[in-house]
Amino acid sequence: MQRVRLHDKDFELFIPESEVNAAIDRLAGELRVRYNGKRPLFIGVLNGAFFFAAELVKRLDIECEITFVKVASYHGTRSTGKVSELIGLNERIEGRHVVVLEDIVDTGNTVRYIMDALNEHHPASVSIAALLFKPDAYTQDIPIEHVAVRIPNAFVVGSGLDHDGLGRNLPGIYKIINSGQ
Ligand code: IMP
Repeated sequence: MQRVRLHDKDFELFIPESEVNAAIDRLAGELRVRYNGKRPLFIGVLNGAFFFAAELVKRLDIECEITFVKVASYHGTRSTGKVSELIGLNERIEGRHVVVLEDIVDTGNTVRYIMDALNEHHPASVSIAALLFKPDAYTQDIPIEHVAVRIPNAFVVGSGLDHDGLGRNLPGIYKIINSGQ
């Protein structure tokens, strides 16, 4: 499928499934070298990372654990402004090698929040592995050490990523077609 319409927006195929798979193969190789023998704990960030997490860990023939968290954002009082909360982390991470699995890193605000929340529990190390990274949109100084695919600053769906709930099940990555083009 070359084109797809989700709600009121049109998307076109940008990265075919075979290329996404090849990029995840390469990333799995990188992580195997770094974490073999360290029993890493992979923490997938829901909802978007369900696809990437499954595809990545099935390629990793090393001893590891996997769990998932959710970042809930809501508006607090006027003085606290926007408040985020990390939901679902039941594992003890003190002294563990942790790898955060993100579907996409855009501004990096989510990564910043998750890193700060995890570091309070004194893990041995924390790194980020992302299926997609938009370097031109990134505003943080935390290194995104493991990236499957770097993309330009455009809105994309597929392979776990959605537009208002739709598109997560699309194989490959689709890019929005800007109206007016
Ligand atoms: P952040 O700006 O790095 O905090 O990105 C936070 C979240 O925004 C990601 O985890 C995605 O859920 C969502 N997001 C950012 N860019 C895109 C996109 O191109 N498509 C779909 N979701 C996106």
